[in-house]
Parts: sequence; structure tokens; C-alpha cells
Amino acid sequence: MLKFPDGISIVGTGSYVPDKIVSNFDLEKMVDTTDEWITTRTGIQERRIAQASEAASDLALKAGSIALKQAGIAAKEVDLLIVATQSPDYQLPSTAAVIQPKLGLKNAVCFDISAACSGAIYALIMAESLMKTCNYNTAMIIGTDVLSKSVDWSDRSTCVLFGDGAGAIVLKMNIKGRNLISFDWGSDGSGVDFLKIPAGGSRNPILASNIDQNQQYLKMDGKKVYKHATDMMYHSVLRALNQAQLKKNNIDLLIPHQANIRILKTVAKKLSLPQDKIMINLDKYGNTAAASIPIALDEAIVQGKIQSGDIVVLTAFGAGLTWGSIILCW
Ligand code: UT7
Repeated sequence: MLKFPDGISIVGTGSYVPDKIVSNFDLEKMVDTTDEWITTRTGIQERRIAQASEAASDLALKAGSIALKQAGIAAKEVDLLIVATQSPDYQLPSTAAVIQPKLGLKNAVCFDISAACSGAIYALIMAESLMKTCNYNTAMIIGTDVLSKSVDWSDRSTCVLFGDGAGAIVLKMNIKGRNLISFDWGSDGSGVDFLKIPAGGSRNPILASNIDQNQQYLKMDGKKVYKHATDMMYHSVLRALNQAQLKKNNIDLLIPHQANIRILKTVAKKLSLPQDKIMINLDKYGNTAAASIPIALDEAIVQGKIQSGDIVVLTAFGAGLTWGSIILCW
């Protein structure tokens, strides 16, 4: 059974986005696009872009310290830090290792995971599992991405979609309420070419010849990703609901990965959910990759969209392909 044990709770969240706003109108001056195309095809109106000096860990630190404060937890209490990112500060070491001393998590085991936009869901599932098997009392997961530095700003098919940001979630054992109930996750590597950054790894190292061909930038077959995204999220939510012995009509709030309003609306329609039961903030931030779910959860809490006892569903898909869903009982 893909069910979480009783009593693992979300006790704090935090999020951070850079100050710099790039609107669709700004993009009209950079590539052959229009506000009308971006808004109708994606729902995005603006996105936040990091400064040249800001890395994934800088955004993560801000989100993480807010989450700790909100949870009322001392940094030294955290036993585990998992960072989900596709834009790490360095190839080596992990971004989690960069964050650990700066946040003061001196007792935490720290590592990164690579699951693209499903990263925060994967991190939550892994954190739960490690809390159980290693007897950890407190864990933090952070989704952070600065994909603006991996986007080709002359490619209109991708540069309009992404934004930068970070979101953090603190988990604690043996607390009542805000519980993780069940989950579903999966991967299908046959879709590995649909969305990737070809250079920068051991296949195509950073060499002048690769850079000349723009291979250091994100490439995407948007149509293929789109087609899989709706199916993956819908079926994953159904499987996770099933594990929790819940039905579609039990959902009080769906918090999906913020990729494209058309994808979100299709999934909501399949789940027979009215628009007021879907959390949407992609108009302000675009697709913030691994940060998308924790930012949206944090905003939903801050905006009072979640009440005690609500069934909240997190669901995401991403490069790999990867997908995952988590049912929360608030
Ligand atoms: O976290 C996972 C990340 N990835 C995703 O979520 C991506 C999922 N896919 C999508 O969201 C959509 O496929 C896109 C938004 C990327 C594209 O929307 P679409 O409706 O599938 O458009 P398309 O790729 O079929 O392009 C339609 C037209 C093309 O022109 P022609 O060939 O019909 O003349 C494109 O060249 O739109 C053109 N186009 C643009 N036009 C203005 C593509 N990008 C732009 C643009 N501005 N930014």
C-alpha cells in the first residue's frame, strides 16, 4: 500500500521569488512573440528572474528560513534536508550542502535529487520514507530552480514559459493534522528526449563546440510533454486517491504543477473540479520547475485557501518523464 504512516505533518512552509519581474510585454521586445499568444496558450503573464549573482541556493535559503520560522523550529532540530533542483549551484557538490551551513542545519543529512518539475513531490515522498526508516523527527524539503540561466533567450518556444523561485516545506513526526495520507509516483525514461539540457553533463561536457551549437540550453518538444502531462497527472491523482480510499469529489483543493493553464484546466475537468478548487499562480510566476508545488502550497496557505480537515492534492509531472501526487488531510 502506498500510504504514509500516521502522523507525518507539514508544520511550516515558505517561499521566495526574485524581485525582478519580466512581463510578456518585455518579452515582445526580445523575441518574436506577443502577450496575446503567451496568455492564451499558457496563461502566463509575467515571471520572476534571478539576478546574475543569484543562484538556486540563494533563493532556497530565503524560502527555507521562512519555513523554519513559520514552523517554530530551531535549525539544529532538522535531521534531513532534501533539495530538488535542475539548476544546482554547481555540478559538484550538492546544492543541499551549500544551503546546510547557511541555514544552520548542522545535524541534517543533506542531498539533492533530480526529478525535474516532480522534484518536490519526489522529495516529500523520500523524506517521509527516511523519517520512518531512520527515525528522523524533523525534515525539510526545498524545491528551487533558476532555469532562467538555462533558457535560450532567443528561443521563443521555451523562454516565455519559465521563471525562477524556491519553496520550502518542514515535516515533523507524530503531529495531528496537516498529514500526508497517501501518494503515487512513477517514471517513464522513454520520454527522456522530450525535455532536456543536452550539454553540461558527462555526455556532452561544456566545450566550445557544444556552446557554439547552444547545447547548454533547455530544449523541449512542447507538444509531446503537453500530451503526456494531462494523462500523467490525472491518472496519478486517481491512484493516490484510491490508496487513501477517497474519491474525486472528496478533493477540496488541487495544487498542480504550474506549467500551462490549459494543462491545469484539462486535468481539473477530468477530475470534475470547478475552477475555485484549483490553485493557480502561474500567471505571476510561470513554470518555476521544482519550486512550483511548494510555492503554490505556501501561497494557498497564506491566502487562506486551506481549512482544517480539507483534502488537498499535490500533483506534478516533469522531464524524465516523471510524475507524482500526494494526498494531504489538513
Ligand atoms: O514542466 C514541464 C515543462 N513543459 C511544459 O509544460 C510544456 C508543455 N507544453 C506546452 O505548454 C505547449 O505545448 C507550449 C505552450 C509549449 C506550446 O503551445 P502549443 O499550443 O503546443 O503550440 P505549438 O508548439 O504547436 O506552436 C504553435 C505555433 C507555432 O507556429 P506555426 O508552426 O503554427 O506557424 C509556433 O512556432 O506557435 C508558434 N510559437 C509561438 N508564437 C508566438 C511557439 N512559441 C511561440 C511564442 N510566441 N512564444
